Amino acid sequence: MAIPGLDDLIASGLRGKRVLVRADLNVPMAHGSITDDTRLRASLPTLQRLREAGARVVVTSHLGRPKGDRKAEFSLRPVSKALADLLDAPVAFCEENVGRKPLEAIAELTEGQIIVLENLRFDPGEEQNAPAFVRSLAELADAYVNDAFGTAHRAHASTAGVARQIPHVAAGDLLTAEIEHLRAVREPARPLLVVLGGAKVSDKISVLDALAPHADTLAIGGAMAYTFLAARGVAVGNSLIEPTAFEDAKRVEALAAEAGNKLLLPSDHIIAQEISAESPTRIVEEIPKGWMGVDIGPETAERYKNEARQAQTVFWNGPMGIFEIEPFATGTRSVAQGLAASGGLTVVGGGDSLSAINGLGLGDEIDHLSTGGGAALEFVQGLELPGVAELER
Ligand code: 3PG
Repeated sequence: MAIPGLDDLIASGLRGKRVLVRADLNVPMAHGSITDDTRLRASLPTLQRLREAGARVVVTSHLGRPKGDRKAEFSLRPVSKALADLLDAPVAFCEENVGRKPLEAIAELTEGQIIVLENLRFDPGEEQNAPAFVRSLAELADAYVNDAFGTAHRAHASTAGVARQIPHVAAGDLLTAEIEHLRAVREPARPLLVVLGGAKVSDKISVLDALAPHADTLAIGGAMAYTFLAARGVAVGNSLIEPTAFEDAKRVEALAAEAGNKLLLPSDHIIAQEISAESPTRIVEEIPKGWMGVDIGPETAERYKNEARQAQTVFWNGPMGIFEIEPFATGTRSVAQGLAASGGLTVVGGGDSLSAINGLGLGDEIDHLSTGGGAALEFVQGLELPGVAELER
């Protein structure tokens, strides 16, 4: 179904109108400073267009998981300052997210001015999608724009509830671009390669079940791969495995085989005896006792890169090894290079995969860097995202 976009909303005339924008400004922070502003930059085009249209722009978001309590370390105030710097324009801030204070502050905005409201999750009503909180949010605006793709898989007051209460709604440019690219993974030009990494099969079981029959090739890395290998009866030494997920791994293999698809596992490994940058490493095909796999080996990386070269569509989520530790990051970086060199449509989601791409300066070589980890995984497996479904409705 078609989702109303920003063009239509702007064409309806927004000068002086109050537009509530749900953005995903949930950026990583350390000691009060933003360590990666990708999500802020990705939010700018929609905010700029609304400013140019003369709207009074009311930006809302969550930050972290304060669980309904007002906690200083999760305040959006520093984020509003960073937005002002990026926009090179004044951005007001209100320490309440609903009620009299924001209503008054919004009334004082001039046309084209932006205000950021305090973290929505300081109020328990946000995550509960509580009717009273939804109504209070709806009172703040004449129109609603959802641009928070990263949070579209949550049925919260600001992502789902409020869309029913405000008559004019639209998807922001970021949300629209995310859906367009991720739809191209769901309905792909073939062959489709999906590269999945991460520690646990149990975290990714629904995505594995959905993608094994869908992807022409499913290439697996990260500690997840050792669970698959161990389920096949291969010795994996001290590698991190989940014996309770062996049956799941076998089922995923069977699903891929039934569909005539390839499921690739690492054939060589970088191994260490401890998870530490100082621990000596070896490259092996068979993992000896007392050692554990910490990254895919060079031959595996080459195979996965080769698959990326041949694919028409590539989707990648999750690191190939313990990427935070430099000597165990080679495989993840190789996959990043493989995607950058692919002639197919390339889509990447998930924090570690994105930082591998950005760390190598390869961001421009990838067709789409998704701002949603969990949301992107849910979308590509064909699940309905509440934030998107409400706009479609
Ligand atoms: C994210 O970072 O994945 C989104 O902002 C959603 O955050 P959440 O997992 O805390 O709902």
